[in-house]
Amino acid sequence: MSNSDRVALVLGGAGTVGSGIAKGLLDKGFKVVAVSRDGSKLEKLKVLISPSRRENLLTVEGDIGSEEGAEQVKQALLTRMVTVTDVVSSLGFSWWQGGAPHTQNLKELRWVLDALLFSTFVSWKAFFPLVRDNPKGTYTFITGGAADRLLMPGTGFLTVGAASALAFCQVLQEEYPDTPCKFNQVRINTGVTSTERKAPGYLCHLELGQAVALLVEKGNPSHSVHTINCPDDLKTIASEERI
Ligand SMILES: NC(=O)c1ccc[n+]([C@@H]2O[C@H](COP(=O)([O-])OP(=O)(O)OC[C@H]3O[C@@H](n4cnc5c(N)ncnc54)[C@H](OP(=O)(O)O)[C@@H]3O)[C@@H](O)[C@H]2O)c1
Repeated sequence: MSNSDRVALVLGGAGTVGSGIAKGLLDKGFKVVAVSRDGSKLEKLKVLISPSRRENLLTVEGDIGSEEGAEQVKQALLTRMVTVTDVVSSLGFSWWQGGAPHTQNLKELRWVLDALLFSTFVSWKAFFPLVRDNPKGTYTFITGGAADRLLMPGTGFLTVGAASALAFCQVLQEEYPDTPCKFNQVRINTGVTSTERKAPGYLCHLELGQAVALLVEKGNPSHSVHTINCPDDLKTIASEERI
């Protein structure tokens, strides 16, 4: 199947990481559907996309973090006869440093889990059936290194949320070892920023997006985990995928 016949649904496609991935996939000739709860973020995403690729971008306003919202987005795609071949799940937030656990409350912990875990689960449940039986299909999860340890004082809930999302991805790989569609997990152990905010040591979201687009393009014979610790690891992915 050529890239122009593939449609990637990018959940969190208006976010920092997701927007780079949406652009990377469009630049490779994929059609992309980006979903966000916020129409103004989708407008900002359009500006990032080269004019020649923009007609391959479909933006959908919706809340894929709720069961009803995810179902509405799915119905909107089915009504428009969009056949999704690949899904990228880039959900959560860039950073959280609300404070040590004793300073927090249950509402804040729920918000963190809502962003990192519940949205990942709810959208996977809604959208995985669209790609599950496609042997060339992929479902890619973006996860973060905060899952392993406290990154610095006051970031504990980030660790709790990231660890729960990571555990969910691992559970999926083990519960569904033989699905035709394969899971990719891209584990990012460093900061990611947009081009405007570029800082030393951080990954540029566009370069990360190109690497993730390569992984999606190539597909997998089995579920796989790719770890990115530094900008050089993006080059490694690119050279491995070309071989
Ligand atoms: N940025 C980094 O430095 C970094 C580093 C390592 C790993 N990561 C991982 O990359 C992923 C994305 O991070 P990011 O930096 O791109 O964050 P971001 O810019 O805040 O984007 C996250 C996206 O998640 C969506 N989202 C959050 N809560 C949601 C909810 N309850 N329901 C539905 N959608 C929800 C948002 O959608 P809306 O558009 O609808 O608001 C948003 O576009 C996260 O899993 C993060 O752990 C990021």
